[in-house]
Amino acid sequence: MSVRIVLGAQWGDEGKAKVVDYLTRDADVVVRFQGGANAGHTIVVGDLKFVFHLIPAGIVHPDKTCVVGNGVVLDPKAMFKEVDELEEKGISTEGRLFVSERTHVVMPYHMRLEQASEEKVGDGAIGTTMRGIGPAYYDKMNRVTGIRVLDLINSDVLADRIRVNVREKNEILTKVYGVAPVEEGPMIEEYVAWGERIRPYVTDTSVYLNQAIDEGRGILFEGSQGTLLDIDHGTYPYVTSSNTTAGGACTGSGIGPTRIDEVVGVVKAYTTRVGNGPFPTEIPGELGDRIRNAGGPGHQEFGATTGRPRRCGWLDTVILRLSARINGLSSLAITRLDILDELEEIKVCTHYEVDGETMEHFPTDLGLLDQCVPVYETFPGWLTSTSEARTVEDLPSSARRYIERVVELTRTPVSLISVGADREETIEVT
Ligand code: IMO
Ligand code: MG
Repeated sequence: MSVRIVLGAQWGDEGKAKVVDYLTRDADVVVRFQGGANAGHTIVVGDLKFVFHLIPAGIVHPDKTCVVGNGVVLDPKAMFKEVDELEEKGISTEGRLFVSERTHVVMPYHMRLEQASEEKVGDGAIGTTMRGIGPAYYDKMNRVTGIRVLDLINSDVLADRIRVNVREKNEILTKVYGVAPVEEGPMIEEYVAWGERIRPYVTDTSVYLNQAIDEGRGILFEGSQGTLLDIDHGTYPYVTSSNTTAGGACTGSGIGPTRIDEVVGVVKAYTTRVGNGPFPTEIPGELGDRIRNAGGPGHQEFGATTGRPRRCGWLDTVILRLSARINGLSSLAITRLDILDELEEIKVCTHYEVDGETMEHFPTDLGLLDQCVPVYETFPGWLTSTSEARTVEDLPSSARRYIERVVELTRTPVSLISVGADREETIEVT
């Protein structure tokens, strides 16, 4: 069996969970390797809808194992909320959910600091999910204040680490941001209890994963966010604080790059972005609203974590070329093709132009990006439902032409096309 990475090729919300859920058939272990509860991964199985923020979406398959890797920042409250919700639906995580000892913990002061910082910068805010992600990675990187799961399960160490942090964070909260301090006593008590609860899940997941690969078991890496939100390669500073790209799967789980067989980039058939930051192919006004609402109740473009409306725009192959390059994409999985079913015209951005000059590659300088004018090719809409299609031949010819052009422009083949939220509404491209 293979080792596969599934990751977002745009700005997140590409439908990664649907693709992960589909490909979990070929895997024994599903792994989250970066990000935290900022993700919102939705899957639909018959009448049941699941939204995961932290636990890999593979957990709905009762015979699979799931791993939260060292590259994740873990909020125990968010994790156990999901554990409890799964249990209510009759799905047990016992003995098949493992958390790395090296995973860093998101603490209540991380949310407080993030809120205070976003409010203070006002117009320049990143528009984060307020899940404490940035401040938790900050503490990890500065080395002095990070708290790992290994510390969480040792009550003496934990109490000591919380005391050091609360002293420092309260200085910042009160003196820099002028907001209320946090209390140390109740926090120690609460997190010692989380430590006790998480203990049975904790293991050296790098050892576990490498053994699984040695035994020939299939591994699926479930990326969160998307390539353009990567801390190094995204639209910095309007990014998340982790490596969302393929390299992150290695560093965030403790396996080597030679172990990876395949990297699947999940691409929405158009583009969305939630939060602030540049978005060259954004469609303002009525048409953007139409795309946002086209999925119908429960499937419209609103954030699964924050409920914020997603900004909608045309497919941008400049960003997809960046994704193919940074991730070494083996193939694309195109999702939500059915959302375009009722549009009279569909556009694809082939490149950008600045002062009449062609730009093939996504620029680093956001000032330059601001001057970029997207250049489009226009396709006639197919104006018929694609949801029943189960093979490429079932698709209307203009939809096939659209996909063929995306393959040409990204120089990457397509392996999967999704035409609806349900597992069945999927086309395998052979
Ligand atoms: P999934 O995995 C879309 C965005 C936020 C904000 C920026 C930084 O569901 O695709 P953060 O809270 O991470 O510090 O916010 O990143 N963002 C996402 N956008 N999908 C996500 O996850 C996202 N996670 C974070 O809106 O712009
Ligand atoms: Mg999401």
